[in-house]
Amino acid sequence: MATQQARSRESFDNDWFFHKGDIPIKYAVKAGMTGGITDNGKREEGEWLDIAYVDQESAESAIPKEWSRVKIPHDWVVEGNFMNDPNLGSRPASHGYLPTGIGVYRKLFALPSHDLGKKISLHFDGVMGISTVWINGHVIGTHNSGYSSVQYDISDIVRYGDEGNNVIVVKVDANRYEGWWYEGGGIYRHTWLQKTDRLHVAQWGTYVTTPYVSDEIADIHLQTRLHNEYELDQACELKSTVKDAEGVTVGFVSEKVTIAQLDQKQVDQRVSVAKPRLWSPEHPYLYELLTEVIVEGTTVDTYRTSFGIRTIAFTREGFILNGKPTLLKGTCNHQDFAGVGVALPDRVVAYKLQLLKELGCNAYRSAHHPPSPELLAMCDRLGLMVMDENRKLDSSSEGITELQSLIMRDRNHPSVIAWCLENEEILEGKITGARILRSLVQVARKLDPTRPTLAAMNHGWNEEGYSDQVDIVGYNYGQRNAQDVTDHYAYPSRIILGSESASSTTTRGIYEVDQERGYCPAYEGVLMPSWSCTVEKAWNDLLDHPFLSGVFLWTGFDYRGEPTPYRWPCVLSHFGIMDICGFPKDVYYYLKSVWTEEPMVHILPHWNWAGREGELMDVWVYSNGDQVELSLNGKSLGTMPMTPAGHLEWKVPYEPGEMRAIAYRDKKPVAEKKLQTTGAPASIQLEPDRQDIQADGMDVSLVKVSILDAQGRVVPTADNEVLFEVEGPGLLLGVGNGNPSSHEPDKANRRRAFNGYCLALIQAHAQAGEIVLRGTSSGLKSAEIKIAVR
Ligand code: GAL
Repeated sequence: MATQQARSRESFDNDWFFHKGDIPIKYAVKAGMTGGITDNGKREEGEWLDIAYVDQESAESAIPKEWSRVKIPHDWVVEGNFMNDPNLGSRPASHGYLPTGIGVYRKLFALPSHDLGKKISLHFDGVMGISTVWINGHVIGTHNSGYSSVQYDISDIVRYGDEGNNVIVVKVDANRYEGWWYEGGGIYRHTWLQKTDRLHVAQWGTYVTTPYVSDEIADIHLQTRLHNEYELDQACELKSTVKDAEGVTVGFVSEKVTIAQLDQKQVDQRVSVAKPRLWSPEHPYLYELLTEVIVEGTTVDTYRTSFGIRTIAFTREGFILNGKPTLLKGTCNHQDFAGVGVALPDRVVAYKLQLLKELGCNAYRSAHHPPSPELLAMCDRLGLMVMDENRKLDSSSEGITELQSLIMRDRNHPSVIAWCLENEEILEGKITGARILRSLVQVARKLDPTRPTLAAMNHGWNEEGYSDQVDIVGYNYGQRNAQDVTDHYAYPSRIILGSESASSTTTRGIYEVDQERGYCPAYEGVLMPSWSCTVEKAWNDLLDHPFLSGVFLWTGFDYRGEPTPYRWPCVLSHFGIMDICGFPKDVYYYLKSVWTEEPMVHILPHWNWAGREGELMDVWVYSNGDQVELSLNGKSLGTMPMTPAGHLEWKVPYEPGEMRAIAYRDKKPVAEKKLQTTGAPASIQLEPDRQDIQADGMDVSLVKVSILDAQGRVVPTADNEVLFEVEGPGLLLGVGNGNPSSHEPDKANRRRAFNGYCLALIQAHAQAGEIVLRGTSSGLKSAEIKIAVR
């Protein structure tokens, strides 16, 4: 029995080399070389590229010069140029008019000789496109979905110690689309190299549930799958320790287990935690299970599972968390962001989630596919309840495997409250669809009976038994003709969730329809797709019918693709509450007014309308006060009682100056907003979200760039181009501005402001020091900030 040290999982994100374009990768059996698995079983003598194979001597020189060194996460599609090629049909519009293609990654690595005998595996959290992986010339697998995680056991194929170096080649074909939004291309989520003893906790091998929870006690059920990859039976001790958030042991159980040779065994253990601290969005308290596999006094494997204690129930009356009726205040979201495409460093994922938390969200729908494991871990920590989603309605063996791996991977996250098995599939309301759905439900119930299943539907709710298969029936845009409410009464056992709503199209800082540039006004409802409704209507609908459990507004952020209601030159969607940089649109403040308590008041539009003096302007106010007084240049325009969960409207003849809104509660002023006509652009302002970042080669500071007038006020119409220079241990990872029709590259050292703002993402090198970021623009006073890298 080997007694090697316990599992290690190291990041494999650095030092990849990337080549854009197809490369024929064949494995040839040449005299003197190792044989093995071949691409398509084809063996070709002679003509083969030295790309997938590397021998001992050629290890370093083997990377062709034209390949670029890249760091994972990486998305090559976002580096492309926007193009409108009618021959490409409609799909490029839905995908944001960026070319996809094929890319090849390559990485060299060595393993020490003492790793021989361990299990070595390579883990990809997500590779967008059809990916094929070679190790030292051997094809080790192909994976079809860009949204699910995949692992490869490479123990037999890698070389150890003096045997030589190893080369990994990953070929990614991003030409096929999986969805109808921007999807990117490449190794866009983390990669890991894992080493374990041959006796170890299986992949995603723990499952923690809390069958009984009270104020006094929580019963914790631990299921651990042990995997014995030795050719002999193995006896071990399985030790499970539950620790609270401070690391104090609050539960412990241990037992002796024997696992047959080359077999797996599931072990059930139970512990109790006294006075459990419950997980909720307000108090996202986490426990940790430490699993240890011990053989003759030596720990051969350790495995950590973060979990929470909470109860959930979807009922006819609505959603209940820890015994309390709770409205789900959710947004649906795709993955991408300004400057990075879908290759979000963890910090950028956290930034997006924090913005949603600040808005008052308590729920997140990962539309329409599995999220990254990091996103779920952050939702656990920040307190966001997640609708975790399967990519498609598919009960082929591949479809089943996809769903199994989603559930096995994610079922310990307290943030996950439901498994969404499909979205708006054509087979909704069809008998075949019902059968497929049934098979998916069976998988979900078997692997995780603690969470409900749902289908996010836009038709067929009442046909051919489709809805009867799932625990919760999702209504996408049920508000359109109150189908959700009608069905609640018509089907007495149906549990309903507002799985997708609104799809309200607005462009940040725009107040008029502008077909030519492809902009939508901020006044909700002026320009809307036929299936949609305003955010305001969606929220009121839920308030009127709490049995709908919640709203999942389409979407939290604008994303690339689906430029509804436009096409080219528009390349981004307009559905976001925030733009693709995370800058709030006006509708953001509507949600603040209904989702947060702190007194606030917001006025739209901006007040820079030179040349339109005397023209009647629509002025809207959002507030959570009970009354609002609006005044212009010191003259009251009247006080109005706030429409509950609504907005106020005034018609105001334009005159430059200061518009002021004061919100009252019980006749006392509680919030004030001043809107001033500004002067011309005069200077640049740089505001980093954090001025202190980590020297880990990954951390990011997101810098808001504003164009100010001479008095330091943001000019709401400014579109000056800002040039960025970075010195010190960091780089400019990308830029953005939220303009849905901008064709400027996101990977560049410059960006125009859009309605006053743009964004620069600064990434730290793995080296301490001080980054200096300078922003300059012709005719404007430049700005400089320092970011400490520690
Ligand atoms: C929904 C769909 C989303 C998105 C949205 C746009 O029907 O589920 O993926 O396309 O429409 O309004």
